[in-house]
Amino acid sequence: MFASTLSLGLAVLPFISAAIIDVQVGAGGKLEFDPPAIGAQPGDQVVFHFNPKNHTVTQSSFASPCGRKDGGIDSGFMPVAANQTDNLPTYTVSVPDTNPIWIYCAQAANTPNSHCGAGMVFAINCGADGAPNSFTNFKASALAIGASLSASAAAASATPASGGYVQTAAYGGYTLPPAPSGQLLTETISVDSSTWVTTYTSYPNSPAPTPASLSGIVHKVIVGGSSGLVFDPPHIQALPRDQVVFEFHDKNHTVTQSSFADPCRKLSANGATGFDSGFFPVDANATQFPTWTLTVNDTAPIWAYCRQQTPKSHCGSGMVFAINSDEQGARNYSAFLQVAEALNGTAAAANSPTTPASSASSARIAGSAVAGVVALLIASLL
Ligand SMILES: *[C@@H]1O[C@H](CO)[C@@H](O)[C@H](O)[C@H]1NC(C)=O
Ligand SMILES: *[C@@H]1O[C@H](CO)[C@@H](O)[C@H](O)[C@H]1NC(C)=O
Ligand SMILES: *[C@@H]1O[C@H](CO)[C@@H](O)[C@H](O)[C@H]1NC(C)=O
Ligand SMILES: *[C@@H]1O[C@H](CO)[C@@H](O)[C@H](O)[C@H]1NC(C)=O
Ligand SMILES: *[C@@H]1O[C@H](CO)[C@@H](O)[C@H](O)[C@H]1NC(C)=O
Ligand SMILES: *[C@@H]1O[C@H](CO)[C@@H](O)[C@H](O)[C@H]1NC(C)=O
Ligand SMILES: *[C@@H]1O[C@H](CO)[C@@H](O)[C@H](O)[C@H]1NC(C)=O
Repeated sequence: MFASTLSLGLAVLPFISAAIIDVQVGAGGKLEFDPPAIGAQPGDQVVFHFNPKNHTVTQSSFASPCGRKDGGIDSGFMPVAANQTDNLPTYTVSVPDTNPIWIYCAQAANTPNSHCGAGMVFAINCGADGAPNSFTNFKASALAIGASLSASAAAASATPASGGYVQTAAYGGYTLPPAPSGQLLTETISVDSSTWVTTYTSYPNSPAPTPASLSGIVHKVIVGGSSGLVFDPPHIQALPRDQVVFEFHDKNHTVTQSSFADPCRKLSANGATGFDSGFFPVDANATQFPTWTLTVNDTAPIWAYCRQQTPKSHCGSGMVFAINSDEQGARNYSAFLQVAEALNGTAAAANSPTTPASSASSARIAGSAVAGVVALLIASLL
């Protein structure tokens, strides 16, 4: 039976010198194809070697990197035991022509553990770097799907069953406005001559998922300097692919990701760790300023702060920053600033352990303290 397939493959071979190209699938336990992209001539044979775990070689399209193409190539799942080192199973694809072939691993599709969403994609005869259909762009949209799946899973688990109740902040007993609930949406995006499908979580008043351009636009933010312990501007709206360039001025600052409920501590929840620029010490008389660049990947609100605590907490003094905060809602930038000042500012130090007056009505979660903190950590991802 396979002989007929083989002879069919051979029949279209224009040259006897057709090449055999070996590709490792998931070598070293990594969620990658190695090499990640190849050029091939019609008639070449691409032999995929399946390493331990349970991967597939499945054809998609440039527009939808993690979606199965109807009637496309599909190896099916190839489970390989962790201790298997030789006789790895293979799957061979005959290259029919010079058109691009887009491939992904379909393991854990449409879940936060999606192999494709972690960047496990491969291409035959894709566009060169810089071309709209380059491998870089293909992989970037696969990663964006993964980021979106993770964000929506976190949002789903953080969405209160009955909305509208008020939670207490991570420490210090402070009443927070309720977290908004996101809505999972899938949209086809067209920018310049590229088109792809994106799955993302939309929050009230969140920006559109369509990038301003394929490379995004640049936002500049001054950190510290003559304006004092502030980010200038203190909050911005940005689209996916935009870059935020933080320019560090006088004193010794960072830009570090946190959460609305815990503004002055580094984000760490559900295995997600926030970004952190590290410290940038800059002299008062400096004329050149170091920068650190952050790429925006999603439309969800991003909360950040300066983690300098010497001689006093910069965050508690109001040195906080937000991207895509909902300025029409209760969780706006100024509300975030108030939480930071209440939990880590002079008010917190002076009143400690007494709770701030504004939170006199906030009830401590007693019996379900642990569950409450867990819920907050999850909610903090918003
Ligand atoms: C391989 O993965 C598929 C899809 O997740 C699953 O149905 C199958 O049971 C897995 N096989 C093994 C042996 O783990
Ligand atoms: C791999 O491990 C399984 C179970 O632990 C064992 O039965 C099998 O013989 C091992 N295979 C090899 C090639 O070592
Ligand atoms: C910057 O601040 C950090 C944290 O307080 C400190 O460890 C570091 O020494 C400071 N750097 C300079 C040059 O002052
Ligand atoms: C800036 O001032 C410090 C002392 O305050 C001095 O050591 C340093 O050389 C000055 N740097 C420049 C570029 O003038
Ligand atoms: C966007 O993704 C890049 C690459 O994975 C990551 O370094 C960066 O921190 C992400 N941006 C945000 C705001 O999380
Ligand atoms: C804010 O206060 C918390 C609790 O005391 C502390 O863990 C955290 O390091 C503080 N952060 C800053 C930047 O002051
Ligand atoms: C923004 O937050 C402040 C402080 O919590 C609040 O007073 C204000 O009403 C909020 N704005 C909106 C539009 O909800």
